[in-house]
Amino acid sequence: MALLLGCMSAVSPMHADEAVEYGAYLSGECVTCHRTDASSGAIPVLAGRNSQEILTALAAFKSGERASPVMRDIAARLAEDEMSALAAYFSSLPAPPGCKEASSPQKQPC
Ligand code: HEC
Repeated sequence: MALLLGCMSAVSPMHADEAVEYGAYLSGECVTCHRTDASSGAIPVLAGRNSQEILTALAAFKSGERASPVMRDIAARLAEDEMSALAAYFSSLPAPPGCKEASSPQKQPC
């Protein structure tokens, strides 16, 4: 098993650019809520955020550690490589105007 996992990661090391592209492809269902061009009220902005923060939040939704009826179901369907790709994509985008100064808002809708 360890050997198999080792092989798989050696065969498909996802390049940063590919991750961003894959994330862009996957983000279609996210951006109806998480708009990338402006803050959207109660829904936190993802564009321009630290990718690690996005990943941590997705993992917490998936595990149920962070309660959110909406995001729990969405995160539950995402595989780890999809989460990484989405985090890479959103963090590669410029933050919407007005969000640039916000320092890692856990709850802050920006
Ligand atoms: C139906 C609307 C909706 C969709 C679709 C949606 N989200 Fe969310 N998302 C939310 C809401 C609402 C919150 C705030 C939840 C909370 O904090 O309780 C949230 C929170 C988040 C957070 C945490 C942000 C923070 O600042 O703490 C991340 C990361 C996230 N969503 C990623 C995604 C990704 C990736 C997708 C697409 C796969 C997605 N969301 C699709 C509504 C949505």
